[in-house]
Amino acid sequence: MTEIHALPKAELHVHIEGTFEPELIFEIAARNRVALPYANVEALRAAYDFSDLQSFLGVYYAGMDVLRVERDFYDLTIAYLRRAVAQGVRHAEIFFDPQAHLSRGIAFDVVVNGIRQALREGERDLRVTSHLILCFLRDLSEESAMETLDLALRNREKIVAVGLDSAELGNPPSKFVRVFDRARAEGFLTVAHAGEEGPPEYVAEALDLLKVARVDHGVRCMEDPALVQRLVRERVPLTVCPLSNVRLRVVRSLEEHPLKRMFDAGLLVTVNSDDPAYFGGYVGENYAGVAALGFTTEELATLARHSFEASFLEEPLRRRYLEEIAGVDGSELQDAALP
Ligand code: HPA
Ligand code: ZN
Repeated sequence: MTEIHALPKAELHVHIEGTFEPELIFEIAARNRVALPYANVEALRAAYDFSDLQSFLGVYYAGMDVLRVERDFYDLTIAYLRRAVAQGVRHAEIFFDPQAHLSRGIAFDVVVNGIRQALREGERDLRVTSHLILCFLRDLSEESAMETLDLALRNREKIVAVGLDSAELGNPPSKFVRVFDRARAEGFLTVAHAGEEGPPEYVAEALDLLKVARVDHGVRCMEDPALVQRLVRERVPLTVCPLSNVRLRVVRSLEEHPLKRMFDAGLLVTVNSDDPAYFGGYVGENYAGVAALGFTTEELATLARHSFEASFLEEPLRRRYLEEIAGVDGSELQDAALP
């Protein structure tokens, strides 16, 4: 585990609200005098037994309800950065869900300013670079997404890309074509969760209709060989989250996770944590988990290389991080391939 942490890596799929650890939820709830429907940290953790994405989302939205002021978002984000850096994360592209806060009466600026204060501090004191990606909640309306995009445009320089998350089934990418057209016209990059619970067709829609630069999850592409060929040919990055897929029962077990098959098929797969406070591990635990799927030490380093290749980093910095990987002594990673 310590060895896998020595590998410099980028994390490209992490929801900041999904890094909210139970201890911090209780601390902030007490500070904000918010009553929680759980007696203590253990009782809250006991609720983390999910049957699918929807059953997780209920607990996820309940947890973030205690976030009220800028300092809360700062505390949340700096805690994530400290853990990520300890596991070798050198660059993080972080999702946030403004609609989940706006609907509770929390202003966009409160959310973004709190997060960004931590990101600046991370860059200065922890040597981790970062970008912010605004996610639209796909189970809300196109109109609500468009209003949220208006707010994003007033914060144009703070946000690198827009994405799509929350309940996938029944909310295909096609629902947000106009929102994404406008976002791209304004210079945002685009990504979308697709092919997590939704079918391979949603992955194709994300590419064709939303012109995404990356697909988040995308694991269900494996049901469509022609789609896999296309993703390989076009070098479309997939931000895979193995422990999330196990916890939300997208796959039956880690042993059955398709990541190694995806890698061997030539897909540009990356390893990420999604909602680490809820799914049993940060990015390091995800790398350690998939190491047991038969990745060699060199292949684990390739996964880390993929993470920088798939990132939205500027070229000189991307190259510098890739050179850092080249500088890691292979023997430091030997034990990483052990289960
Ligand atoms: N899938 C979709 N939406 C989400 C997730 C996820 O895993 N985590 C937070 N929002
Ligand atoms: Zn996600």
